[in-house]
Amino acid sequence: MADSRQNSSILVVHGPNLNMLGKREPEHYGSQTLDDINDALRAKAAGLGLEVSTFQSNHEGEIVEVIQDAVGQIQGLIINPAAYTHTSVAIRDAVLLLNVPTIEVHLSNIHKREPFRHRSFIADIATAQISGLGASGYLFALEALAQLIA
Ligand code: DQA
Repeated sequence: MADSRQNSSILVVHGPNLNMLGKREPEHYGSQTLDDINDALRAKAAGLGLEVSTFQSNHEGEIVEVIQDAVGQIQGLIINPAAYTHTSVAIRDAVLLLNVPTIEVHLSNIHKREPFRHRSFIADIATAQISGLGASGYLFALEALAQLIA
């Protein structure tokens, strides 16, 4: 029987090249590393009574697989598909399997950048998109999920 006192689980998925945060185009992506962002998410989650697991991959199929494995296991998804935002029908289809509130996060404002970044294969199936608020965007996404799944 499900234990209603159990913390809700949130999966955070980071796409390709986000492992290089801190070194990578700081004018777009800021100076925080991915570890900094994940640590901040875990700290915030503890205060919200949520459990967060984080995953980063440079490989589309691995991202699809981690999302498939989360089906029925999580209550919310935060995803920054990075470059796959603009190309991946496979990640879109995997997210559709989950059927949970989903927040798409981008550190930079993709709509202010090159035209090829304006299209997102996730935006119209996500609950919301946060784009351009830097690392704080992930924390706002967590707060939003806490409310959405309360
Ligand atoms: C990004 C924006 C994408 O266009 C880019 O390919 C990334 C990061 C962002 O967080 O701003 O890798 O998703």
